[in-house]
Order: sequence, then C-alpha cells, then structure tokens
Amino acid sequence: MKIVLLGFMGSGKSTIGKLLSERLEVPFLDLDEEIVRKTGLSIPEIFSSSGEEKFREIERETLMGLLSKPESLVISTGGGAPAYKDNMELINKNSISIYLKADFEKLWKRISKDSNRPLVTAGKEKVRELFERRIPFYEKADIVVRTDIFTPDETVERILKFMQFSFP
Ligand code: S3P
Repeated sequence: MKIVLLGFMGSGKSTIGKLLSERLEVPFLDLDEEIVRKTGLSIPEIFSSSGEEKFREIERETLMGLLSKPESLVISTGGGAPAYKDNMELINKNSISIYLKADFEKLWKRISKDSNRPLVTAGKEKVRELFERRIPFYEKADIVVRTDIFTPDETVERILKFMQFSFP
C-alpha cells in the first residue's frame, strides 16, 4: 500500500507524513528529498541551473520510481507535483491520496520567508494564483483533511479514521 500526501507548500506534508508513517509502521519518503539525493543538487539549485520544466521532469520520474516500488510507503510530494502532466492520475492509480488542505493566508505566513522554495520569490499574488490553479488537481485526492485548524496529531487521527472508513 502507498499513501501519497499532497497539498500546497507549507500545508504540513512532511510533518504529517512522518507522523503517519510512525503510526502505520510504514517507511516515509519525501519526494523532494529523493530528488536531492538523486541529483546531488538542492531544489533551488535545480531551478536556477536547469529551470522549472527540467525540475518537473525529474520530479515526475522520481515520483514514478517511488510509486513502482513493491513495498508499502508513506510519500510526501512537492506542492506542484499533482498539477504536472497526468501525475495526479498516476498518484490515484497507485496509492491512497490525501490532500492536506489549508487556507492560503495561513500557508503564505508559513512559506513567505523560506529561501528553500524558489517559487515563493514570485511574490504573494503570483503565489496565490498558483495556489488557486492547483486546487482542482488537489481536490481529486481520495481523502481531504484540513491541516490549518487541527494540530498535526489531530490531523493524523482524522486521516486514520477516514482511511478505516474508506479503505477498510
Ligand atoms: C514546489 C514545492 C516544493 C518543491 C519545489 C516546488 C511547488 O515542495 O517541490 O520548491 O511547485 O509548489 P513543498 O511543497 O514541499 O514546499
């Protein structure tokens, strides 16, 4: 079984992913960390040396690699992964997908000062547009949970309940 966590930057995918993996006793992998390991470059370095399109291709290839592994995994994805090509269909075909939903203003507060996220430099209104464009992709997830009104532990409890109900 694969569980894929998705949602915009700052929605808590890595935090929730780690907690969920502990609860389910299933290893946790972060797609961005896998990309960094594979390329030997940081995410900002890939963006600045090769551009976003190249990053998306590497991201897609790495995602496919993780989804085709035989073992159970909890995988957190980068905020843009579900919105590129048919990645979301790929995710839904091969995993239980969980959208970590949060209000834009709260997300912006969390991400606006982070230098490790190249897209944030575009400024608040551009990032808001990006957020809005991606919502229809995120909404295709099997399970939707809010992360901005619950603590990480509460969010994990809710995910486990939804999973028992939807995928007994
Ligand atoms: C991106 C989100 C980042 C990372 C890259 C691009 C995006 O991951 O993949 O900077 O397009 O939203 P996080 O969502 O983990 O910050």
